[in-house]
Amino acid sequence: MKIIGTGSALPEKVVSNDMLAGFLETSDEWITTRTGINTRRLLSSDNLGELAITAARAAIETSHIDIENIDYIICSNVANNYVTPSLSTIIQGGLGDCSCPCMDLNGACAGFIYAIDIAEALLKTDRARNILIVCAEEPSKFCNWHQRETSVLFGDGAGAVVVTGGDNLLSRRVTAKSQKDVLYYKRPLESTPYDRSTENAEPLVMNGRDVFRMAVQGSLSDINALLDDAHMQPDDVDYYLLHQANMRIINSIRENIKQPEEKFPCNLQRYGNTSSASIPILIDELAREHKLKEGALLMLSAFGAGFVTGGALLRW
Ligand code: UT7
Repeated sequence: MKIIGTGSALPEKVVSNDMLAGFLETSDEWITTRTGINTRRLLSSDNLGELAITAARAAIETSHIDIENIDYIICSNVANNYVTPSLSTIIQGGLGDCSCPCMDLNGACAGFIYAIDIAEALLKTDRARNILIVCAEEPSKFCNWHQRETSVLFGDGAGAVVVTGGDNLLSRRVTAKSQKDVLYYKRPLESTPYDRSTENAEPLVMNGRDVFRMAVQGSLSDINALLDDAHMQPDDVDYYLLHQANMRIINSIRENIKQPEEKFPCNLQRYGNTSSASIPILIDELAREHKLKEGALLMLSAFGAGFVTGGALLRW
């Protein structure tokens, strides 16, 4: 497969660390030094469906494929206001002349790589020719905004790509190992006369240190496995596009494989952790700034709740 179009959309509201310090016991200094995040974009008067549709439209436009020739929509989303119908069908409705199959997947922050994995399988088996992948996330809505441990980390946003047949995906790898307690969000369901489990709803809970350690280990093992598969060395890669969660996680991975900073473009300083949307938003920004030269070798790597990881090595 190959990526032929990219798009992204972010909420209008920019929230700085200082704004958070106005109501949380935190500081710009703590957030910047522990995470690298300076601002994030948070949904306020806008909504996730609109962002997802805007990102999708931009990806289709840059792909030069007519909407009616998109024959599958995969949306990566952890949770949104609609439990049903799927966000992918809501996106389809906003695109106009389009009636292809749609599905949502929850691969947490690794959802973009999981979507690439599935898209590649659909393309290889001739079940689709052009696939729209949209990663749309609003993790700010999972957090307890009285808890500084989680709420300062996240931002909302959407990133999209159109993929089609080609030889540019050299290798990919997705993993999962159940570890429910390190990172979870339990949303409420309606209670019934027979089950009051709605009381078990809980905002995002995270063991930051465990997630940090598992993220670095998981990402490194994916990167090394993908390079081995392709008989390549870390030096062969032009850009490492990693899940934008924390600059310290990115630096730990970078130092381990002894690569220079300029190979790790980042936007987490501006957007925080936008879950599965972070890599496609980054790809779209780099593509629009003409920073991705044709033939450049890209290593994508992400990790998240599950615990899941995913990596992909591809030529631009
Ligand atoms: O997509 C995957 C999602 N999750 C992640 O990627 C998160 C991975 N983990 C991390 O990024 C880091 O573990 C954090 C940024 C969450 C935390 O950094 P840390 O260096 O692991 O800090 P810590 O959890 O060990 O906390 C150090 C101190 C604690 O105070 P004490 O116990 O030392 O007195 C915390 O209570 O920092 C305190 N703290 C804060 N202080 C000011 C925690 N959050 C804040 C905050 N502002 N926002």
